[in-house]
Amino acid sequence: MERIKRAIEKVKKHNQPNDLKAMKRGRVNANGREADLDEFSYVSTKTVELDGPHLEKNRIIVYNQQDVKSTIFDILRTKIISKMQQNGWKTIAVTSPTQGCGKTVISVNLAISMARYNDFSIMLADFDLKKPEVAKNLGLKVDHSIMDYFDDKVELDEMLVNPAVPRLVVLPNNKAYKDSSTLMSSNKMRSFVEEVKHRYESRIIIFDLPPLLATDDAIAFLPNVDCVLLVVGNGMCSKSEIEESMRLLSSKNLLGTVLNKSDDEWRGYV
Ligand SMILES: Nc1ncnc2c1ncn2[C@@H]1O[C@H](COP(=O)(O)OP(=O)(O)OP(=O)(O)O)[C@@H](O)[C@H]1O
Ligand SMILES: [Mg+2]
Repeated sequence: MERIKRAIEKVKKHNQPNDLKAMKRGRVNANGREADLDEFSYVSTKTVELDGPHLEKNRIIVYNQQDVKSTIFDILRTKIISKMQQNGWKTIAVTSPTQGCGKTVISVNLAISMARYNDFSIMLADFDLKKPEVAKNLGLKVDHSIMDYFDDKVELDEMLVNPAVPRLVVLPNNKAYKDSSTLMSSNKMRSFVEEVKHRYESRIIIFDLPPLLATDDAIAFLPNVDCVLLVVGNGMCSKSEIEESMRLLSSKNLLGTVLNKSDDEWRGYV
């Protein structure tokens, strides 16, 4: 896409070896590889500090690395990365059979945990265009909507936010759309995902999507991604809803199913 190329050019201009922003972050290395990996996300992306108590209230537990429960996400992260590496997958959709299962909470925790893994930069995109909540969970103030971007009113680098976690960039959205499935299944959307996916060798993109059975958005968008993580809220979906979701995902690469809101105690280790 022309606009993404323009954004990349703009960022490249910023990122001369004497560019203080890049130097301060240690992103300029001998062969420029690391700078390449992150410049789009960091040099011209606004960085926003996160508020610990707000995150805790919204169940973003991995931010506090002292919280033993964050290990749950580290285990999930490592399993997912391993499977993605084996298969050369770079894009993940997070969805669920019905609403409220915990997709957004899991997407955000997973994105932070994955960014800490060091080997990848992570983009977390709020593509639940009917009910965008990533920014709310992270406590981010968002100036633009995804539709502003697709309507050519704003550049991608103006939309992106780095929530003060190295290697993590968030594509937030501040507005819900009734007619979102048209965009989700459009060629414009397909080109956007392909462009962002292939631009950076070491980037993983997590798309927080709507539920599979409540709208057609997720089904419309799924052909764009490499693999899917299904979140099932404990006691929130019937057997037939889970079966129907598995049927809809039968042609997709299913990373696995997360049973969220389980009553089981986390036993921890040591
Ligand atoms: N493991 C959990 N234990 C208890 N509550 C949880 C858990 N995970 C998420 N929640 C809560 O459940 C509610 C729904 O979570 P979340 O918004 O992440 O779900 P969602 O699947 O994204 O919902 P929607 O379909 O509306 O987008 C939130 O209030 C969240 O704090
Ligand atoms: Mg959600």
